[in-house]
Parts: sequence; structure tokens; C-alpha cells
Amino acid sequence: MKNHSVDILVIGSGIAGLSYALRAAEHGTVGVMTKKERAESSTNYAQGGIAAVMAEDDSVELHVRDTLVAGAGLCHREAVELLAREGSDRIRDLMHWGVQFTAPGGSLSLGREGGHSRRRVVHAGDLTGREIERALLAAVASHPRVHVFDDHLAIDLLVRHHPATGRRRCGGALILDHRAGVLIEVQASVTLLATGGLGQAYRHTTNPAIATGDGVAMAYRAGVAVANLEFMQFHPTALYPAEARAFLISEAVRGEGAVLRTLDGALLPIDHELGSLAPRDIVARHIDRHLKRSGEPHVLLDLSPISSDHIARRFPGIMAECAARGIDMVREPLPVVPAAHYACGGVRTDDVGRTSLPGLFAAGEVACTGVHGANRLASNSLLEAVVYSHRASDELPVELAAAATGYVLDATSVELAPSPAAPAPVEVAELRRTLRQLMWDDVGIVRSDERLEHAAGAAAGLHEAALRAGGACSRDPDTIELRNLVQVAELSIRCARRRRESRGLHYNVDHPYRDNERFLRDTVLVAEEGAD
Ligand code: FAD
Ligand code: SIN
Repeated sequence: MKNHSVDILVIGSGIAGLSYALRAAEHGTVGVMTKKERAESSTNYAQGGIAAVMAEDDSVELHVRDTLVAGAGLCHREAVELLAREGSDRIRDLMHWGVQFTAPGGSLSLGREGGHSRRRVVHAGDLTGREIERALLAAVASHPRVHVFDDHLAIDLLVRHHPATGRRRCGGALILDHRAGVLIEVQASVTLLATGGLGQAYRHTTNPAIATGDGVAMAYRAGVAVANLEFMQFHPTALYPAEARAFLISEAVRGEGAVLRTLDGALLPIDHELGSLAPRDIVARHIDRHLKRSGEPHVLLDLSPISSDHIARRFPGIMAECAARGIDMVREPLPVVPAAHYACGGVRTDDVGRTSLPGLFAAGEVACTGVHGANRLASNSLLEAVVYSHRASDELPVELAAAATGYVLDATSVELAPSPAAPAPVEVAELRRTLRQLMWDDVGIVRSDERLEHAAGAAAGLHEAALRAGGACSRDPDTIELRNLVQVAELSIRCARRRRESRGLHYNVDHPYRDNERFLRDTVLVAEEGAD
């Protein structure tokens, strides 16, 4: 095993990791570890944009109110207020780092999406994420104190103890350079988890292959509190068929006037004043109910209310992808279905991104800051990532000083070092398929006690099988990811079984109403010692 030392370790190269790295470099050396090619991230595929209060008819209060309404009573108000208040400054930071948002005539174009009472979505056409990722990677590349390591997969966190006080502190991470087949113990004074989401736990997802819940699983194994994993957001409009990674049809398309219809051309009935632009949980549930009742494979997104010029100008990326699939989106409606899209829960943090393990911070989709509650408002996630990674970087002077007070790396955590194990690709691929189908069938848009109980039993069996396939001691990236996927699936099921009510994204037919007396609180899980 090799050793490597940095002041600040960042795991993940999406918007959270890169924006943090750029500010962290003012305080020390920064190593960004990323498990594939550096641009590969959910950030890179974001379409609609990034919400912030930029318009004259908008206000922080309105952004806060819309976010709280979507979050169905579970948002932490202070976290939302910070998000809305600091959002516009963070948009300016992104522009300062070189992000070119669409700004005809010099003023930012503002899109509209579900649940927003104002136009406030800053965007770069419909390729917003690609532009953000491009600019941040370019800024990082020209920074002498930031080094990005592609194909470096974090397996587990390293923990230090203070000999005098017995206090624990994160000391970095065990990293696999999977191109070279080399294990590296990367020691760091401060570590940021910025590993993104976990959509790959579901059969149909808009998320790229990297979204395997590694950060949540690593944190949980290290005894760090995780929360609210029952709240998986299903995006209502993924292009049908939605196999492998489903192609997203941005909510901004409905924001510009497109409406949902059934196959016979009737408007899809949606029991909400905003109709097709109601919050995502409501739209996705109505589509799901219609598909189950009618037996139809998809619904239709009718773009005829939008002029063809505007479609071409505003949605060039979606238009190109549709054309590649033989669909002319100017002339014909798009076949769409819901798909798993965003994890509202994750590693629990405070208002500066601090987790329950000193020295470990989390930002972006991996984190649960309290902003999203039971349902995320569209385009609030890129904003949350950049606001909270900024806040986390402000803590670095204090954190670096605390780390220098005599902590010693745990021998036990070093012993976690995996021994080489023969990969078992066939078995691992089959276990992953089974898990994704299980989560889709039993832990999907509509849940029941019976299905959740079935899911818990089946996931426990898959956990055992994943461990037998080499889970905790493999150098094979697919096997390592399978272990994490099974773990986040089990955590999601446990959270869903605890919440015996329906709220936001968690809908259980056996408990169809909100129960504020018992459940107006986060669902928090902490591992017992030795969780694998
Ligand atoms: P990511 O951008 O996903 O980056 C995670 C990084 O961690 C990657 O570099 C990955 O390789 C790395 N990583 C993961 N595990 C490991 C490991 N074990 N070791 C090393 N590296 C690891 N949100 C909006 O606000 N607006 C939108 O318009 C929007 N559109 C979206 C469209 C799509 C198709 C998708 C999938 C999501 C969209 N979202 C949108 C959500 C948003 O893009 C994500 O929540 C956000 O980009 C997450 O950023 P992040 O930095 O937390 O994670
Ligand atoms: C979209 O463009 O519909 C995605 C926006 C988001 O997930 O916030």
C-alpha cells in the first residue's frame, strides 16, 4: 500500500467538490479524488439550471416559501434561509470562475420550473451542468495547489483517535487507483465527501453510473449519522424507454408551457392548481397511478404550446438527443415516464457542512443539510451544493488547527486494507440487477408495509451475497460499488419503514396521511460498531 498526504482531501469532482477545492486551496494543498474521468458526475448532466433570487419581482422570502412548501414540513427553515440569502452571491462566484450562463443582451435569462412562484432558474441553455463542470475543471486545472486524480475510488474513510481525550477524527480515506491496481492511504487533516447521489440503486434512473451511494455508505460504516433516505425524488419526465441511464426531459420544458397528456390526447388529470407544473412528487404520483390503472407504457409531453424557434433556442441538447432517437420534438409529443432522480437524504450535516465525525464534511447531493426536507424544489440542488461547500470551506482555518493537535491514525482502520480478491463480474452484475429491480418494485413512487417488509428481507439476502462476492475486501470497483449500493438500499428501506405516514416523496398506501404528531422530524440512522 502507498501513502499520500494532503492538507485537504476532496472526494468527488462535481460542483460541490470542485467549488470547495477552489476555495480550500487558499488554506493548503488539496487532493481531489474522483472515481472515473473527472467530468463524469451528475453535475455534468444537469439541464434545467440553478435556482437563485436574481429577478426584481423575486425575493429571498418567496424562494424560502416555495422551498418550504415543496419540502412538506420537514425542511430546516434556517438552512433554507441561508440557501436563499447566499444564492445570488454564489451564482456570481460561478460566473467569476468562468461559467457562462445564458444572458441575452447581458441580463441573465431566468427559467421557470415546478413549484417556483417566480422565474429564477439561471441556466446555460439546457446544458447548464456541462458548462458549470467545464468552467470549474478549467479553474481547478490552473490552480497550483489543487491536484485532481482520475480513476481514484474511495473505499472507506480513515479514522484517527486523540490519545489523551479518545476523541475521533476523520483522517482521510483509503483510495484505490483502479487503473494501476494500487491502494493508497491518503491522509488528510480535513476531508470533504462530495460523492453525489445514489440513483443507481434503482432500475430506472436519470443518474449517471457514478451515482452508487458510496459517500453515504462510507460515512455510515464509519459511524457517521445519515438521515432521510426514504425521500428519493422521482423525476416525472424521463424519455421512454428509460433503460440503463434514462435521458431526462427537463422540467424547464413544462416551465415554458409543455403539458402532460395521456395516450388518447386528453390532459393528464393532476389534482393541483399548478397542473403539469405541480411539485415533482405530485406529478410523478399522478403519472404512476395513470400508468398502473391504464396499463399504458408511458404518458406524453406535449410541446405544442411552445413555438418551434423557442424550443430550438432553449432546448438544443434535448432536441439533439431526441433527434438521435428519431423523435422530432417540434412536431411530435415526447413519450415520458418517471425515473429515480435525486436523493434528498444523505450524510447529516449542520449549517457549515460538518458531519457527526470531526474533520469530515459533506456537501452536494451526498449531504442532508435540511434544505430539501421531504421533497426538493427543482434546481435547488446545484445551489445547495455551491452554497454549502462555500460555507464548509470557511471553516478550514479552525479545522486545520484542530487537526494539528496530536491525533493518531487508528491501526484498525488501516487493517481494513483490502487484500486482492478475484473479481466476480457475472455474479456482481446479476446481484446489482436484482437489487435495482427490487428497489424499483418495492421502494418506488408508491410503497406499502408489505412491500417494504419484502424489500428488507430481500436486501438482507443481497447484502450477504455481496459480502460473499468479495464485498468488504475487494479491489474490483464493481464489487466495491455493489457493497455500497446494497448498503444504501438497506438504509433507504429502514428509513422508509420507520416513517409510518405519507409525506412529500414518501407515499405509503397503508399510512396515506401526514402524521405531524409522530413524524415531523428527520429519520436519523447511526451504525452500530463494526457495520459492514
Ligand atoms: P456529482 O456531480 O454527482 O459528483 C459526484 C462526484 O463524486 C463524481 O465526480 C463521482 O465520480 C465522484 N465519486 C462518487 N463516488 C466516489 C468514490 N467512491 N470515490 C471517488 N469519487 C467518487 N439539479 C439542479 O439543481 N438543477 C438541474 O437542472 C439538475 N438537472 C439534473 C439532471 C440530471 C440528468 C441529473 C442526474 C441531476 C440533475 N440535477 C439538477 C441534480 C444535480 O445535478 C446533482 O444533485 C448535483 O450535480 C450533485 O452534485 P455533486 O457535486 O454533489 O455530485
Ligand atoms: C430538470 O431540468 O428538470 C432537472 C432539474 C432538477 O433536478 O433540479
